[in-house]
Amino acid sequence: MKVLVATEKPFAKVAVDGIREVVKAAGYELALLEKYTEKQQLLNAVADADALIIRSDIVDAEVLDAAKQLKIVVRAGAGYDNIDLAAATAHNVVAMNTPGQNSNAVAELALGLMVFAVRNFYNGTSGTELKGKKLGIHAFGNVGRNVARVAQGFGMECYAYDAYCPDEAMLSADVKPVHSAEELYKTCDVVSLHIPATPETKNSINHDLVGLMPKGGLLVNTARKEVIDEEGLIVLMQERPDIKYVTDIMPVADAKFKTLFEGRYFATPKKMGAQTAEANINAGIAAAKQIVDFIENGNTRFQVNKG
Ligand code: 3PG
Repeated sequence: MKVLVATEKPFAKVAVDGIREVVKAAGYELALLEKYTEKQQLLNAVADADALIIRSDIVDAEVLDAAKQLKIVVRAGAGYDNIDLAAATAHNVVAMNTPGQNSNAVAELALGLMVFAVRNFYNGTSGTELKGKKLGIHAFGNVGRNVARVAQGFGMECYAYDAYCPDEAMLSADVKPVHSAEELYKTCDVVSLHIPATPETKNSINHDLVGLMPKGGLLVNTARKEVIDEEGLIVLMQERPDIKYVTDIMPVADAKFKTLFEGRYFATPKKMGAQTAEANINAGIAAAKQIVDFIENGNTRFQVNKG
């Protein structure tokens, strides 16, 4: 049984060591493809893999066609919009994620980006504090819940909107539920995005929605670039010189944002929300264990292409 770890953005070494231990203990073989630059390298590497661990790496029909022996692909992380689920199902490949394993790391970065933005990108000028500000958490999943916990430590007042999450879950975390995205953006000084990229959410963070934010509004994106209507946000930021945008996922129009919005826009050079040793260890080892549990016992608890 061969497990391939294919990560264009590699895990910390300590996480790879942990994955290797789990794989070896099961009597399987581990193969590593890190920092690859061409899709062909992935196509070659998957040819004899029975199981695949990935991060944001794209697994589409072409990759699945090349992976003749593949039984399972595990996205070591939360979002699985990089896997073509229909193609996986058609190829009889089980697709899983590892929910919650890297969410604290992403939440800490979201708060880090907030501090960076309200302190004027550490340029030495007088900024503002997060304490007492209203934080809107857009989607109250694993990351959103961690964001609330950390933000409460800063003394922020937390609100959340999530059509799929009951009010009770928010209330029990001292978070005020609101019942529309519009209400969230109207209410909050800072909005932090934690929605997945789906056909429903694509381009949904648009001119009119962000335009509801009060004066000095800050939008923080550690989710996906696809959820932003970039042209709409650009128009809004031109109309509203008070709005700031900080993101862990560089927009397609990064150059335009940079030129137009100096001093109120920042993007990390590479998505780094989940780039911590702890998150890599948690998500990587969970992925390896899920593979072994699936191969040995048929456990499909975290399968995302069921039915
Ligand atoms: C996720 O969906 O788990 C995060 O966006 C992290 O993605 P990464 O593994 O590419 O850092």
